[in-house]
Amino acid sequence: MAKALQNGLQIIQKSLTRVAKKKFSAGAGGATGEEMEKYTRGVMENIKTTTDAGEAVSSADLIIEAIIESIKIKRDFFGFLDSKAQARCIFASNTSSLSIRDIAEACSAERQARFGGLHFFNPVPAMKLVEVIKAEKTSQETFDTLVAVTKQMGKVPVNCKDTPGFIVNRLLIPYMLEAVRMAERGDATPHDIDTAMELGAGYPMGPFKLLDFVGLDTTTFISDGWREKADRGEIPKELVEKSALLQKLVDEGKLGRKSGQGFYDRVPEKGSKQTVARNVVKDSRNLAARIYE
Ligand SMILES: NC(=O)c1ccc[n+]([C@@H]2O[C@H](COP(=O)([O-])OP(=O)(O)OC[C@H]3O[C@@H](n4cnc5c(N)ncnc54)[C@H](O)[C@@H]3O)[C@@H](O)[C@H]2O)c1
Repeated sequence: MAKALQNGLQIIQKSLTRVAKKKFSAGAGGATGEEMEKYTRGVMENIKTTTDAGEAVSSADLIIEAIIESIKIKRDFFGFLDSKAQARCIFASNTSSLSIRDIAEACSAERQARFGGLHFFNPVPAMKLVEVIKAEKTSQETFDTLVAVTKQMGKVPVNCKDTPGFIVNRLLIPYMLEAVRMAERGDATPHDIDTAMELGAGYPMGPFKLLDFVGLDTTTFISDGWREKADRGEIPKELVEKSALLQKLVDEGKLGRKSGQGFYDRVPEKGSKQTVARNVVKDSRNLAARIYE
């Protein structure tokens, strides 16, 4: 466990160093090692780690949970924390696809009023947006506090209801799924669809590059969960129809960036830890033929 904490701290430190480089190189005279070091040390000194969750929350005003995307695990976790945290403490989940109400129901009625969603975007230090989610039982005071806290962090909050995918994913997931269906039908190749959306719609990356970035498994997991919501009428069924192509790639372990291969093959760039897209799948008909053979 000590090793896990050490790993966590190292990841934060690395991320902070990147932030510091950006922050100080923007100023006159460029970055100085001393300034960057002071900045990262200042943040790191404010971080305490423990493997005792009860102790960690005993005097907290706000808890932001970002554990694995499982309703059961999140509910168990919050149910446990409810008995350990002070009554004043606000609970927030960073869930991308689960309902805040469903998670909050593991807690007392009082806590449900002090429970909302804070959905950050990856990579968090670089992405300004935070979706602040007001569930059915979230009090206005709690919601206002969550908005104020995100502003204090230097982020830009947007107000969301507790609906599947909130704003960003509610639009992005059906869009990416339709792009896959488009390629499956042979209407256009993944490469051409990406080029079209980048140059025609001004998106920084097309839907297939985005799918590789997000993870094909993550997108599949979210849309599988939403199909259950579609059965309950919470989202139109046709928006989350299952894609055989996407499922096939996932079954083959082609998950995108994280596995090195998805719609694009990714290989390490020479002399860098970064990866670059290579061997774009140029012909969706060939791709479909290969996949179904
Ligand atoms: N990855 C993203 O781009 C992203 C963006 C926004 C929001 N989110 C949300 O943030 C949360 C975490 O996402 P992630 O991609 O880091 O997930 P992940 O699957 O990588 O897991 C995150 C952490 O959960 C821990 N964990 C696993 N089981 C646990 C348990 N029983 N108790 C406590 N901790 C446990 C793991 O050790 C891991 O460090 C999810 O709710 C996800 O929807 C993710």
